[in-house]
Amino acid sequence: MLKKILITQPLPAERLSELAALCEMEVLEKPLDLADAGGHSDLATCHGLICLLTDRIDRPLLDVMPNLEFVSSVSVGVDHIDVQAFTERQIPVGHTPGVLVDTTADAAFALLLAAARRVAEGDRFIRAGNWRPDSRWSPSFFLGKDVSGATLGIVGLGAIGQAVARRAAGFDMRVIGWTPSGREVAGVDSVSLEELLLRSDFVSVHVALADATRNLLDAAKIATMKPGAVLINTARGGIVDEKALFQALDSGHIYAAGLDVFEREPVPMDNPLLQHPRVVVVPHIGSATTLTRAKMVDTAVRNAIAALQGKPMPHCVNPAVYSG
Ligand code: GLV
Repeated sequence: MLKKILITQPLPAERLSELAALCEMEVLEKPLDLADAGGHSDLATCHGLICLLTDRIDRPLLDVMPNLEFVSSVSVGVDHIDVQAFTERQIPVGHTPGVLVDTTADAAFALLLAAARRVAEGDRFIRAGNWRPDSRWSPSFFLGKDVSGATLGIVGLGAIGQAVARRAAGFDMRVIGWTPSGREVAGVDSVSLEELLLRSDFVSVHVALADATRNLLDAAKIATMKPGAVLINTARGGIVDEKALFQALDSGHIYAAGLDVFEREPVPMDNPLLQHPRVVVVPHIGSATTLTRAKMVDTAVRNAIAALQGKPMPHCVNPAVYSG
């Protein structure tokens, strides 16, 4: 009998054809609502799950999916999954590293340039009809911050952090970096997080969200940032204390911020950061290009196919399950 896989949101059908030949697939039309999971009669019969970063995949779900043999997430980050719970039950969890590196680094750089040169603010200024003869070009009109020659501090020197460093070199930036693992990267001066925050004109966050990095940039750390610095976050919202960031922007200590990710997503409209003119926001689209999303789905499908065939997933976040 064919095994059954649940896919929590429609994905491009042509990318799923190889998988469809190997199993029975059910695709949810609405996001998986855990509170309602018990009411989904078929969950208990599923052997595999392909999910997105918007799905909460944790212990209660395991309880209603007793036959689950693998999870494959269409994301590189797995903070939406209680990996420990799955490891305890010897269930492999797959993710999609590598394929989104350049696209996400591009997004970080887009936010960096936009925040430095007030791109979103300028766009709003014109559309609001404010570019008039009495408010036009002058030597002090719409001044921003220089990128070339500035110091960029990269928090997290994994593949995405390194790709941001390569882009920064092309902009003649001085690049310093810190990573929890202490990893050394060519072309990047490794420094402590404290020194990075003190010295950087721009700080770009590229660590994964985990217990050790939750609130990594808290009020105390933000207070030590170089006055007039710009903060870019394309990693996860929970890494930066949003209230402290807003206060630092409001007081003028921080010049600007570029944010792709938020503590709560979709970001509530009453989040004060949305009201601040120097905050450039985009809706968690770091990896959102047609090609990269196709590659992410392909990687998730390859992980699922390996699991269905009883082989190790090519990209597994808890490979310990294979040695047990
Ligand atoms: C995007 O945020 C991802 O984790 O893939």
